[in-house]
Amino acid sequence: MNPYNIIRKKRDGKKLSADELACIVEGYISGSVPDYQMSAFLMAVLFRGLDFEETAELTRIYLASGEQADFSDIPAQKIDKHSTGGVGDKVSLILAPLVASCGVYVPMISGRGLGHTGGTLDKLESIPGYRTNLTLTEFTKQVREIGVAITGQTETLVPADKKIYALRDVTATVESKPLICASIMSKKLAEGIDGLVLDVKVGSGAFTKTVEDALKLAELLVQVGKQHNKKMVALLTNMNQPLGRFVGNALETAEARDFLETGRAAQDLYDVTLALSSWALILSGIAKSYPEAKKILKQKLANGTAYRKFIEMVKAQGGDAKKLEKLEEVHQARYIIEVNSPRSGFVKYIDTELIGMLGVELGAGRKRLEDKIDPAVGFQILKKIGDYTKTGEPLLLIYANDKAKGEEIRDKIRCAYTISNTRQKAPDTIFYIVNEKGRTRWEEE
Ligand code: URA
Repeated sequence: MNPYNIIRKKRDGKKLSADELACIVEGYISGSVPDYQMSAFLMAVLFRGLDFEETAELTRIYLASGEQADFSDIPAQKIDKHSTGGVGDKVSLILAPLVASCGVYVPMISGRGLGHTGGTLDKLESIPGYRTNLTLTEFTKQVREIGVAITGQTETLVPADKKIYALRDVTATVESKPLICASIMSKKLAEGIDGLVLDVKVGSGAFTKTVEDALKLAELLVQVGKQHNKKMVALLTNMNQPLGRFVGNALETAEARDFLETGRAAQDLYDVTLALSSWALILSGIAKSYPEAKKILKQKLANGTAYRKFIEMVKAQGGDAKKLEKLEEVHQARYIIEVNSPRSGFVKYIDTELIGMLGVELGAGRKRLEDKIDPAVGFQILKKIGDYTKTGEPLLLIYANDKAKGEEIRDKIRCAYTISNTRQKAPDTIFYIVNEKGRTRWEEE
């Protein structure tokens, strides 16, 4: 079997066999398929798509590329959460210890920044010492001992996703539902979980821009999970503006820390985190209803149990908890630059993908495989959709280490905001819930 012929076949819109998919993926991991052929293959998939059978097969091939955790001897439920990617999305950092503090085991394998979106691993690595490359033995030991671990793909833990994920990040081949599905579900299936809560983002900062497209992705993910007998729930959540108040690795980690410590956060971040965490508790059986789940979660935030679990996890993975307490000082950007509103009015629209892309430009993400992240840089979002601004008032702050770059971004980022004369309704945070029974409009219980 020849990789050239496989690329050509997909380029021409033909269906690939399991052997052909395995040939290209395994060849890429072993090094016999070079980056340029894999990039061409990914682009062919992005344009031509994969049907359900091919997507499920690709997921299995990714999964089989490495080791898998086995927690079947633990009588309690193992539940995880994953997002399809957003801007300012630090929910995993909060949810994992919060849900674990309620007695659910949370074995989480996450990813780095992808395209214009941020990554949980890059955020956690802003904590000095925090290790995101646990071996399978270290990962399972930690989950057994403290109930939670957040680690990344490695050479032995879903290596296919580790390598292909990094390549997709820099080849504009992220926005493909089958590739997103194989990437997410292989990581999640390798964790040895009983159930999964998915945060499928929709809007200008998501990979799926319309509700219909996001629903299709949610259904695909749920279907693949069901094939592997996992309990599955997906929430469609709003990514038409950055989630919470900060974008950037250390800035977001500090925001997550503050949420866990005080129980308070920006409303959209609070609502999305509580909704996803509630579903994790429901899937685990710890809560029988949504209101009951929310009540338990609020207690764990209020009495400090969730924050203590976060610190326990950080320490277990080598992170310096003292430095986490003053992360803003550890990673202090040299320049803070205001972006002022050109006019008075109400914020109507925020081009969230543009904000994410400018974050990458600033150094919060990668443009090339070998790029290093700058943990200190990012944005503080001062005005969100519906907020009123006066002319000259700051809409956001840029945290930069390179003055010229920061000023260049200030000029570009103004275009991300649309200000209107008319009052804007506060946007909905959650649109739909999807499970094996189908899609239902979200109504807070
Ligand atoms: N998260 C992942 O892990 N993979 C994707 O492709 C997108 C989001």
